[in-house]
Amino acid sequence: MAAGELSGRRIVLGVSGGIAAYKSAELTRLLVKAGAAVDVVLTEAGARFVTPVTFQALSGNYVWTDIWDARRPANMAHIDLTRGADAVLVAPASADFMARLVQGMADDLLSTLCLARPRAGMDGAVRDCPLLVAPAMNRQMWENPATQRNVAQLVEDGVSMLGPAAGDQACGEIGMGRMLEPEELLEELVAFFEPKLLAGRRVLITAGPTQEALDPVRVITNLSSGRMGYALARAAAQAGADVTLVSGPVDLAVPRAVTRVAVRSALDMHAAVMQRVRGQDLFIAVAAVADYRPAAANPHKIKKSGAPLSVELTPNPDILAEVAALPDAPFCVGFAAESRNLDEYAEGKRRAKKLPMVVGNLVQDGLGGSDNSVVIYDAEGRHALARAPKEQLARDIIAHAARLAAAPRSA
Ligand code: C5P
Repeated sequence: MAAGELSGRRIVLGVSGGIAAYKSAELTRLLVKAGAAVDVVLTEAGARFVTPVTFQALSGNYVWTDIWDARRPANMAHIDLTRGADAVLVAPASADFMARLVQGMADDLLSTLCLARPRAGMDGAVRDCPLLVAPAMNRQMWENPATQRNVAQLVEDGVSMLGPAAGDQACGEIGMGRMLEPEELLEELVAFFEPKLLAGRRVLITAGPTQEALDPVRVITNLSSGRMGYALARAAAQAGADVTLVSGPVDLAVPRAVTRVAVRSALDMHAAVMQRVRGQDLFIAVAAVADYRPAAANPHKIKKSGAPLSVELTPNPDILAEVAALPDAPFCVGFAAESRNLDEYAEGKRRAKKLPMVVGNLVQDGLGGSDNSVVIYDAEGRHALARAPKEQLARDIIAHAARLAAAPRSA
């Protein structure tokens, strides 16, 4: 998560009664850290689990609990709190609270403001203030047909359901009904606001370094951190794509809603890509694939001696070039990490591999770091993107690729 991904957003966080309310304190902190302004509304039961003081300290705003609160601006807190808000998120949403939402009850502040969400956006456009709901309850309560009926009705009413997840429950049982973790809810919320430029599209991405075995304990590898590829996988998933990430060995969390296939060598990566490339709409090759591998990996550890050691290297297949040359090739995006002459080398690579789009960067600008500055090369020329966190660049690159992929092809 890059800082500021929710900056300028105002979120009304509703907390109903459930033990998962303690996680909403952490969620408030994360929302604020992501740049959002947060107004917390507690139900009476919610306030029994975590007190308003906690949410007030974390959000930096007055916390609302009572429909009769004398501080209500012009006696209309139920309207004012959501006026200009970008979303109402109820987390945790108890079984009882969801039932009340379905019935359109308005017997406390949170239910009233959910019912009275005004149709106005920050940009002045008229639209519903979206309602997102993160259920949290005991497994049996979740599985109860009454709850399932309510969930189906809420979805039909246009409410976005976030989770729940399966796992250990506070009551000691194991099953469906756990609230998503605060980090997951934050990811869901960030994704919710992203334009769905790749809705229904399938995207295959390679990322990270490869490791080429010299012997059972030694490899030839490179300094790629995988961060750019992972950020692209996240941005593509947030844009609505079905994303498969073929990743060399890196220590990064799999982005939400992304399927990762872990590989080690260039040959493994090649096989994993070729197996999955059919039916993909986009292929984005970000991996720093080793150009060469030892011609034969030594089956036993190479022993030290005073004599010089030479290792014969043999070229690896060029995965990107091979995919781009397929008769039914997806829209292909290549990366070019260069240490000089970026324009010449990156555009040269685009033409040599017959790619509609290449993203170039100077290694001294970004390899392994969290920020980068890149230039996009396509049939129309070069487009320099300002230095930014890789998450932001990933969004811009995905938007550019989505636009080109939707247009008639020209290389
Ligand atoms: O030609 P060069 O290796 O510099 O090209 C870099 C681009 O090609 C990157 O997109 C990289 O992921 C891809 N590539 C590949 N297979 C290789 C080498 C590079 O897919 N063996």
